[in-house]
Amino acid sequence: MGDKDDAKPVAAPPAESPAAASPPAAVAAPPVESPPAAAPPAEESKSPAAEETTQQDPSILPASHWEDFDNGVDDGDSGFNDSVSSTASLSSSILRYRTILGRTYASEIGQAEAWAPNDDIHTESMDIHHHACTLMLKGQLFLAPIKDDVQKVLDVGTGTGIWAIDFGDMYPNAQVIGTDITPIQPSWVPPNVQFQIDDANMDWTWPDNNFDYVHVRGLLGNISDWKKFYREAYRVTKPGGWMEHQEEDAVWYSHNGGVEENTPMGQWGKVFREASTAFGRTFFPITDDIQRQCMEEAGFVDITVKDIQAPIGDWPEDPDDKETGTFFKLVLTSDLEGYVNFVWGNVMGWKPEEIKVYLAHLRRQMKDPSIRTWYPHRIVYGRKPE
Ligand SMILES: C[S@@+](CC[C@H](N)C(=O)[O-])C[C@H]1O[C@@H](n2cnc3c(N)ncnc32)[C@H](O)[C@@H]1O
Repeated sequence: MGDKDDAKPVAAPPAESPAAASPPAAVAAPPVESPPAAAPPAEESKSPAAEETTQQDPSILPASHWEDFDNGVDDGDSGFNDSVSSTASLSSSILRYRTILGRTYASEIGQAEAWAPNDDIHTESMDIHHHACTLMLKGQLFLAPIKDDVQKVLDVGTGTGIWAIDFGDMYPNAQVIGTDITPIQPSWVPPNVQFQIDDANMDWTWPDNNFDYVHVRGLLGNISDWKKFYREAYRVTKPGGWMEHQEEDAVWYSHNGGVEENTPMGQWGKVFREASTAFGRTFFPITDDIQRQCMEEAGFVDITVKDIQAPIGDWPEDPDDKETGTFFKLVLTSDLEGYVNFVWGNVMGWKPEEIKVYLAHLRRQMKDPSIRTWYPHRIVYGRKPE
């Protein structure tokens, strides 16, 4: 994958951050969620969005722009080659999904508002993302220097639970708890792994000093108050225990141009940037330096930041990076609609047909083999003092 930096202490020069190193060229995509086999009937569709778009940034092209847009890229490949308590018991409201443009989403519970679907199409994309992240770390599930005899582990916003299950397999003596707002985790899991419904935006119900390791990955666009989130993570971590948080920004960059502002890729990040404000949950946790700042403010020490330029596509020459990039591209191509429908429609006010036309242009640009795209991925971990 692009240029990977070695893990470095928090005081390392910011120039190592890919976002700082390269001018924003393109846009990127966030990751995501899906329902159990016996999902109850979904609620009636709620129409996306308002009548008119809400975007304020004058450099965001109007949705109608994409109707006549021709990016001149030939279609070619398949895309593959390249204070209420936070813990709730399973109740009918949690199992009642809402449907938007034919896709199911977790119903609003507590302070959670899911922007990504929880259906099979999207959970598959989440699992591919897990695979790509693991490839990117050369098979590692995490970077924090946790003890071999780690006892209690919490995975916040666990999604399909795939990370928690892999971790539970690797550490059979550890008790692993994965939490999410939607019950999309399998029931056949290692005996040391369990899942609970839990809204991470609420006060956490776990007792103080409870976990040896708190893991978080891919919660961009989901957390309304990151400082509070980190305060809770610090509170429930045992003294001497670790917290680790992997994130990505919803923006694409390019090593060699091609992701200019007025291209479909270029507009992706701009729309997600503005949607961050409108939605009240940032899709740019790296640019906003959420992980490092909040971890420091909460009281964690020995904080280490690792920035990675995650490739999108099979353009890297290194075979490992090529495989990683191929899967990161597949994360997106497997469910572009799932990544944008809610945010662009319900938050930004685009009409369904405008989203479809835009995505058609984006798909074509993504098939241009000359553009070497990547997105920022940051891993931060820190220790709670003894
Ligand atoms: C992009 S997925 C990441 C899943 C998993 N962490 C991974 O990396 O494979 C984000 C997950 O966060 C969950 N989520 C969203 N808002 C949440 C909240 N307020 N509390 C807990 N989980 C939440 C979503 O339901 C979804 O499963």
